Amino acid sequence: MYRVAVMIASDSAARGERDDAVGGVLAEMIAAQGWELVEQRLVGDDYDTLVETLVELCECKVNLILTSGGTGLAPRDNTPEATLAVIEREVPGLAEAMRRETARFTPRAMLSRGVCGIRQGTLIVNLPGSPKAVRECLEVILPVLPHALDTLAGRVRECARERADA
Ligand code: MTE
Repeated sequence: MYRVAVMIASDSAARGERDDAVGGVLAEMIAAQGWELVEQRLVGDDYDTLVETLVELCECKVNLILTSGGTGLAPRDNTPEATLAVIEREVPGLAEAMRRETARFTPRAMLSRGVCGIRQGTLIVNLPGSPKAVRECLEVILPVLPHALDTLAGRVRECARERADA
């Protein structure tokens, strides 16, 4: 079972001006995989807060952090920059696949600047902010996440030999 944390970035939801619709979707999708949701934080879009929250969540020794929101072009969309500030290595293929595969639902998929990368043993994945986008994007990468997380945890060494199609 993987340990997962969620960070939702939204000024208005953090101020209580609107309900957060994404937390429930992510909790449901994580539970459906049989994974453990260890922490869920709802924070504003302030860059320093985002960086601080990501660092704290990594210290919880989670395998995966899913962020939602703040990936667009608005002046307060700081999630990709905060993620790039804390990761040591980028995993561009995940973000590329989410944009590419979900463009069939909406061409606006190309407007998400989300990034994915690794801080110590934790994979951080930026998802857009709407519940619909969260579902669409997460479904694209779910099939490869166990292999990614096992590799990150040092449980896979020679993956090319494990599967004929790898
Ligand atoms: N990706 C998918 N798959 N589905 C969507 O509906 N919405 C887009 C995009 N990515 C969307 C999507 C829109 S409209 C925006 S503005 C950007 O994500 C950024 O969203 P965010 O700022 O809430 O992260």
